[in-house]
Amino acid sequence: MDNSELDPRTLNNETSLGDSRLNNKVVTLVYGCQMSERDADTLTEITRRLGYEPSDDLETAALVIVNTCCVRESAENKILGKIGELKKLKERNSKVKIAITGCMVQQPGALERLQKRAPHVDIWAGTHNLHEFSSLIKKVERGGKVAEVWHEPKATLEIAPLPEKGKRHASVNIMYGCDNFCSYCIVPHVRGRERSRKPEEILQEIKSLVESGCREVTLLGQNVNSYGKEFSPTYDFADLLQEVDQIPWLLRIRFITSHPKDLSDKLIKTVAEGKKLCEHFHLPIQSGSNFILERMNRKYTREYYLSRVQKIHELVPNASLTTDIIVGFPGESEEDFEQTLAMMKQAHYSQAFTFMYSKRSGTLAAKMEDQIPLDVKKRRLQKLMSVQNQESLEWRQLMIGKLVEVLVEGPSKTNPQRLTGRTRGNELVVFNGPQEIIGSLVNVRINEAGSWTLMGEVEDFKKSWTFEFNAGI
Ligand code: 5AD
Ligand code: SF4
Repeated sequence: MDNSELDPRTLNNETSLGDSRLNNKVVTLVYGCQMSERDADTLTEITRRLGYEPSDDLETAALVIVNTCCVRESAENKILGKIGELKKLKERNSKVKIAITGCMVQQPGALERLQKRAPHVDIWAGTHNLHEFSSLIKKVERGGKVAEVWHEPKATLEIAPLPEKGKRHASVNIMYGCDNFCSYCIVPHVRGRERSRKPEEILQEIKSLVESGCREVTLLGQNVNSYGKEFSPTYDFADLLQEVDQIPWLLRIRFITSHPKDLSDKLIKTVAEGKKLCEHFHLPIQSGSNFILERMNRKYTREYYLSRVQKIHELVPNASLTTDIIVGFPGESEEDFEQTLAMMKQAHYSQAFTFMYSKRSGTLAAKMEDQIPLDVKKRRLQKLMSVQNQESLEWRQLMIGKLVEVLVEGPSKTNPQRLTGRTRGNELVVFNGPQEIIGSLVNVRINEAGSWTLMGEVEDFKKSWTFEFNAGI
């Protein structure tokens, strides 16, 4: 197959909609992680180049895309509910085309089951053939339905959707897939084996984002710490970060997700020395019990994890640490759970994403005996969340009185009279200030810690502006 035919970058704004068609609106709904969001952006961009116009209004849409997630059953249930709602939309407007794409469709054996359940859907596509989406839409526009799921990625085509002008933040994929096979996780089954993008391509994409106004990038991968492991000569994630750090006019660099087993001293040092690299590590622990970590196939112990945390604090003072935790993994005893609670207190996370274990068919953990009853999982989750809320509040209270650098994002959602932005540690800050500072770095003195955010006042206005100016030099 000639890949250039599939690459929407070669489509040159070809319009597949007839001129007679009045409505060309596309609504893209997205569930799941930042990878899924990034894929959804790609799909929207593909449709834009076919003549569709992005919109939020389902009632007037010509095409609705739902990019799905299957990491937990709760996500799947929400999506199934949405697909049901779209059936009613189709009853009101038979012309609307519906596309269901991504991880949920990619699961082994899922397509048939989904097709039976939702015959009103026009396009089904998995994760490996998203770059081919334009040809699927064209087929459906000619009439009929189409379903395509590839078992493996056939081409390593990476489509960089054009950044929206003026967008200050962008996510950039640096690698795809995962080789870790944590026993609970469906991701390696739906995203395939690990593939790293070439550094030149990544750097080029970031430079063009910066040219169009982007000032902060988040580098995405399921396990960014193993980036480039297939490269010869050797080139690893720390090498990539050092190069990204040199890009003029870029102000901040973030990355997710780090697997603790692969977090090298070199990487921690690189973050310590980088000018634009934010002092924030998202380091999922998943459980504080060695017995459970082994069953999860995480390949580290709680002692090793804590040694990594210690190294971070040694080399990157004031680094903020966030994590993911699963409660109720098969075989988790009260004592194992207590160890997770203790871990939380020891690691001092600024934030934790906490989940009840969800059985995913096809994974090793799904076949394990001693699955934990739902009421026990719920109780443990409640307890974990209350401990973490207290920890997060204490973390934020420690920031009162400090001067922090904030990248101003825009008006606060809860109070549009005020502005909001994030610290280098990824904490949300709300403060007063003029609209003109949106998009720049300002210094904010923290004076209050709320349940979810920090409050403060801008200081050194001029200095903050100068900082943005200097960042380009
Ligand atoms: N059940 C619950 N949580 C899960 N995660 C991944 N798979 C499952 C599952 N089967 C969580 C992990 C991971 C995060 C993205 O989702 O904590 O880090
Ligand atoms: Fe899933 Fe583990 Fe890979 Fe993360 S590292 S995507 S939890 S298999």
